Amino acid sequence: MQFQIQNLNKTNSKAQSLVYFVSQKGTGDQGMKLNNIPKDLQKIVKDAEKDEVFKGEWSSTLSFRVMESQGGKSITFIGLGPEKEFTAEKARQASANAYKYLSALKTQSAVIFADGLVINKNKNADIARAAAEGVTLASYNFDTLKNMGEKKSKKKASKAKELNLELGMGDSSTATKKAFEQGTIIGEATNFTRWLGDMPGNRMNPKILADETVKAAKGTKLKVTVWDKARIKKENMGSFLSVSLGSDAEPRFIMMEYKGAAASKKPICYVGKGLTFDAGGISLKPSAGMEEMKYDMCGGASVIGTMIGIAKLGLKVNVIAFVPATENMPGPSANKPGDVVQARNGKTIEVNNTDAEGRLILADALTYAAEKKPVWICDAATLTGAMVVALGNIHTGFYTSDDAVAKKVEKAAEESGERVWRMPVVQDHQDDMKGTYADLSNLASSRGAGSATAAAFLKNFVPDEVPYAHFDVAGTAWNAGNRLSYNPKKGATGSIVRTFIQMAMDHKA
Ligand code: BES
Ligand code: ZN
Ligand code: ZN
Repeated sequence: MQFQIQNLNKTNSKAQSLVYFVSQKGTGDQGMKLNNIPKDLQKIVKDAEKDEVFKGEWSSTLSFRVMESQGGKSITFIGLGPEKEFTAEKARQASANAYKYLSALKTQSAVIFADGLVINKNKNADIARAAAEGVTLASYNFDTLKNMGEKKSKKKASKAKELNLELGMGDSSTATKKAFEQGTIIGEATNFTRWLGDMPGNRMNPKILADETVKAAKGTKLKVTVWDKARIKKENMGSFLSVSLGSDAEPRFIMMEYKGAAASKKPICYVGKGLTFDAGGISLKPSAGMEEMKYDMCGGASVIGTMIGIAKLGLKVNVIAFVPATENMPGPSANKPGDVVQARNGKTIEVNNTDAEGRLILADALTYAAEKKPVWICDAATLTGAMVVALGNIHTGFYTSDDAVAKKVEKAAEESGERVWRMPVVQDHQDDMKGTYADLSNLASSRGAGSATAAAFLKNFVPDEVPYAHFDVAGTAWNAGNRLSYNPKKGATGSIVRTFIQMAMDHKA
């Protein structure tokens, strides 16, 4: 998709397809709000209302094609539902619907008029950003591994046929223009995260993940440092290292640093689980659905996408991100149930289930992040199946013992339109993670609350004075497209990238 943002004049577009948004004045039969639609088209919408074919209800559409002699345009109205209930998140979804409608039409040029989305208490800039995010996110299509044998020229030709889309509103102020650009950057950062997640294990192993991170950071202010196996060992990351030993593919520790504020300002830190394939290790997973474990690096991918987004937005903050990347395989040197490993902070851990490996790699990454004396640390990980049971693919569960951090998270999620839910973590969960032969066990001693006990385990690697939140994205990192129009039906979603970027935007360095 070629995608431009413009100050749009309502009448002079030469595009083949036009999209307008129509909201309802109230929840009853108070009619539709049509003042953002050209006069001649208002009559058509009113007629449709009279005939009861279109009332502007949420997600409904009215579409028609003008006679060839009149220019042959196709015109679509998308219903937004009651004005009072409208939010920026709905604008994101409605814009995604508009994009999808246009791509199904196979039209080559189109305009989406976003003015109709500025209703209720929403501001132009917030809607501009959400609309740009919606369209950019909806345009994501994972086709890297299809038609690979095709000649480059043929691929180029089909690219040229792609939809040329303009998105805009009548307001040409700098604030609105900037918001459109920000939305595009955030959407693209999320799409990059999705792409990393969608790539299969053999094509996105730890080394490739590190190389792709370096490549994506080129031309930005990001400094990327990658440690290999020898360095990881030297840095006493024994817990992380132990997970990698069952695989031929060597681990990588990926660090991304962004300096947008004075050197004296403390950084904020992100940590992400970069498990490029989780077979379970010696505690091997069942075969059914195991292919989905290529997504076990989605937390790491979210953190990488977040950093690319922050750098491209040019935020005035200092940020450092850490992604421990490895496979979890049952090779001859793999962790065995009962093995005891030692983490960078000195704590010893009994590996009672080799499939609870995410916490083992995060232990060292969190320890290292805390050494940077950050303002706060947020981690993202596809950590537990229990999280999927608890919240499904609707909310991302997060854990923190710090109410101030919880507030920041909830505010950022509200602004970014992502759904998060604070989960409880208490001393009892900590007690369940004590080891018999070592300081800790990676497997809880009692059943149930599997995502809370995992969160409690992680807390052992972040000193009390460092504010910290853990996000378990196991349920939301992929296949959540049945709920949100801007997510692909299947595949990685890039969940939590928008919230993480927003937290950095909200942070006053
Ligand atoms: N990567 C998985 C968690 C997971 C499972 C994410 C399904 C998304 C969907 C993680 O490494 C794992 O296997 N966790 C175990 C922990 C258990 C052995 C304590 C789990 O959740 O079953
Ligand atoms: Zn596992
Ligand atoms: Zn895992």
